Amino acid sequence: MPLLPPASPANESKLTVPQHLRTYYRFQSRIYDLTRWSFLFGRRRALQQLPISPAANISILEVGCGTGHNLVALAKYFPNAYVTGIDLSEDMLAIAAKKVARFGGRVTLEEGAFGVVPLEEKYDLIVFSYCLTMVNPDWDKLLEVARKSLPPTGMLTVVDFHDSAFPFFQSHMKKHHVRMDAHLLPVLVEEFEPVRHTVKSAYGGLWRWFHFVGRQK
Ligand SMILES: C[S@@+](CC[C@H](N)C(=O)[O-])C[C@H]1O[C@@H](n2cnc3c(N)ncnc32)[C@H](O)[C@@H]1O
Repeated sequence: MPLLPPASPANESKLTVPQHLRTYYRFQSRIYDLTRWSFLFGRRRALQQLPISPAANISILEVGCGTGHNLVALAKYFPNAYVTGIDLSEDMLAIAAKKVARFGGRVTLEEGAFGVVPLEEKYDLIVFSYCLTMVNPDWDKLLEVARKSLPPTGMLTVVDFHDSAFPFFQSHMKKHHVRMDAHLLPVLVEEFEPVRHTVKSAYGGLWRWFHFVGRQK
């Protein structure tokens, strides 16, 4: 039985715009790049482990691109690609805009909530990096929009928190709007054709994070 709701405009119209995240990132954007390197693991490796030639002439979308860490890595790794980043936080995007200016029109930014703001119809590769665990309760609807935005040969990659065996840590992360109970990976494996997926431990097992690469089914 499919785990995601069936694709229909009705599901997308029920998408809520997470205003609380816009507020959250108003301050967090100021310390984001100084702090996140120490716990958002696997981001660079996730991009370099994609089974796509670096020379490929593709279109890439990062959903929840934040301050542009991955947009820069993607634009460098795929020099012939067109890269779009969408994010609902104007504060995060203001930082991203400075970083991607050097790529000219090859990297573009869109402000708004994914699934609500109109984008190109299809992307060869869609990237979610530490975004989906923050999209509660609509993470499944975002995945559904992503699935509809991939051509038959399209690929999706997700790097994100997986779980933690420690309730104190789970509730700490919940205060930062992160859900950490291994809810994403089983759905990704079911709804996309897995190419690779790994789960890794951080800080001696305080939490685990995962990396998934899948194709459109
Ligand atoms: C933890 S940050 C990750 C940023 C970047 N992907 C990275 O790996 O550094 C999560 C980002 O997702 C954005 N975001 C969350 N929900 C979103 C949505 N529904 N549409 C667009 N952006 C969203 C937030 O504004 C935030 O910038």
